[in-house]
Amino acid sequence: MRILVTGGAGFIGSQFVRGLLTRGTDQVTVLDALTYAGNPANLAPVADRPGYTFVHGDIRDAGTVDEVMPGHDAVVHFAAESHVDRSITGAAPFVSTNVLGTQVLLDAAHRHGVARFVHISTDEVYGSIDEGAWTESQPLAPSSPYSASKAGADLLALAYHRTHGMDVVITRCSNNYGPYQYPEKLIPLFVTRLLDGGRVPLYGDGGHIREWLHVEDHCRGVELVLHKGRPGEIYHIGGGTELTNRELVDRLLAACGADWSRVDHVADRKGHDRRYALCSDKIRDELGFVPQVDFETGLAQTVAWYAEHREWWSRHADR
Ligand SMILES: NC(=O)c1ccc[n+]([C@@H]2O[C@H](COP(=O)([O-])OP(=O)(O)OC[C@H]3O[C@@H](n4cnc5c(N)ncnc54)[C@H](O)[C@@H]3O)[C@@H](O)[C@H]2O)c1
Repeated sequence: MRILVTGGAGFIGSQFVRGLLTRGTDQVTVLDALTYAGNPANLAPVADRPGYTFVHGDIRDAGTVDEVMPGHDAVVHFAAESHVDRSITGAAPFVSTNVLGTQVLLDAAHRHGVARFVHISTDEVYGSIDEGAWTESQPLAPSSPYSASKAGADLLALAYHRTHGMDVVITRCSNNYGPYQYPEKLIPLFVTRLLDGGRVPLYGDGGHIREWLHVEDHCRGVELVLHKGRPGEIYHIGGGTELTNRELVDRLLAACGADWSRVDHVADRKGHDRRYALCSDKIRDELGFVPQVDFETGLAQTVAWYAEHREWWSRHADR
């Protein structure tokens, strides 16, 4: 299969590409603008593999997308502005990349008759849930400019399916963790600062609840959806470990040999969703998805990876 992966130099996209190219059964083109979050080093382990092409380009650039698209059997669309805090201080790149960029890709995929379009989305499009878990039919109620832009992209993708009959499938995943995550997100931010002997900021009372899934499990779910998902459907990818941020920070402190004296309690994030929870019965029952990475093991390996790859993260100013 010839697969066009957008955002393949980012955290999750690069995991997906490394997995595909290591197995060696597919040809992969990465289209990535190399924003602050995109890093060619994330793809270095597979850069010499046959069937791999890297295109440095922006998904909002219709000319570039039109040149790159022909000949691909599928698009797997990860490219996005992905950090909620950045969307609160400046929403414009989120709307332009996440909404308009998705529209440019959908148009080109439709025009060139690409057989399948997998749009990667997030649990954050639903807003917040006090108890229970969302199913795929839950109405969207995003809280942040980030999640609103992802919701807009999701609706566009579904509209291209209904209007043009395009074979579009959407995945919505919970919080990911693992190696190669840009150190602005909670786990790599805390781990890299703690490893450096620094202090870490915990939002509000730390009672916010997230479901954590290893990035390898997310990518396994995306591959299942790519090959077996039904056109026009949405699939949750969850089934990870539900923790309050305090519980997570407890584990991170222990893993880095630190204690709560290193934690600064800071004002809560504006509009901070209290809890996310996905019902993942559909992908389990239809496609046989079961997460494979145990959280304690995955977290220990993740902390070890950051400890061993200081050169990868130490240059980042955001830390
Ligand atoms: N990180 C999570 O926990 C999580 C959870 C659920 C869903 N998602 C979704 O998964 C996808 C990937 O997330 P991530 O954490 O890997 O993000 P990331 O920020 O690490 O990577 C995003 C990638 O997209 C590229 N990019 C950004 N704007 C672009 C543009 N205009 N044109 C081309 N490339 C561009 C960046 O250079 C980068 O390589 C996103 O769509 C995100 O919404 C993430």
